[in-house]
Amino acid sequence: MLTKISRLVLKKKNKSKIVCLTAYSKNIAEEIDNYTDLILVGDSLGSVLYNFDTTRKVNLSMMIEHSKSVRKGVKKSLMIVDMPFNSYKSKSQALKNCKKVMKETKCDGIKLEGGRKIIEIIKYLTQFKIPVMGHIGITPQTVRGKFRYKGKTDLEKKNLLKDSKSLEDAGVFAIVLECIEKKVSKEITKSINIPTIGIGSSNFCDGQILVTDDLLGLTNTKIKFVKKYTNLKSSVRNTVKKFKLDVKSGSYPSAKYSY
Ligand code: KIV
Repeated sequence: MLTKISRLVLKKKNKSKIVCLTAYSKNIAEEIDNYTDLILVGDSLGSVLYNFDTTRKVNLSMMIEHSKSVRKGVKKSLMIVDMPFNSYKSKSQALKNCKKVMKETKCDGIKLEGGRKIIEIIKYLTQFKIPVMGHIGITPQTVRGKFRYKGKTDLEKKNLLKDSKSLEDAGVFAIVLECIEKKVSKEITKSINIPTIGIGSSNFCDGQILVTDDLLGLTNTKIKFVKKYTNLKSSVRNTVKKFKLDVKSGSYPSAKYSY
């Protein structure tokens, strides 16, 4: 029988686009699970839920608690958890923390940010059978200054291609490409046998991921690649306005909602 991970990898061969989204809690995970192939508990929860100015402030216990909640809502999709900043500085620390995350959250794998710089750590984890997803391009845990898309120069392109090949050789099962120029994303996707999952990296990738709160219009983001499919913010406002009117007028709770 194929594992969830081999099924995901097979999608690349079958040219079937891979659908991925983030979730930080059971309620959202439950609603998206039927439509996604992969659900990521992203450390983007630091900015989305906690208003942190950087994902570096997210720690392991935050990731574990949110992932436990998400686990309760995910039945079908592959569930991957982001390893937060400073939780994989050495081989032994990475292995200890990844094992803890896998054991406590019952996730299917973890994601680490970085290419060749962390390749020895990734090789070590895959040797110990930890399913690892890579992440290159813009890597928010280490980004300095303004966010700028990658792959603009020949040197950047060469490095991204080398990183993706090294990650494949180190045994990762898929790679997130964040904000990479479209021709470079296309070339990376063609040059490796594992799926590329794009975020702001064009439709040449094997799959796409977005932050669910962005797609639902729950955040104020104005990032170019984010398509807001609905505006839940205004929906929440209108609903709460109705509740307020009902409470003020005394029409809620009516007999129907009273014992
Ligand atoms: O933290 C996150 O949500 C992510 C994805 C957006 C790729 O890393």
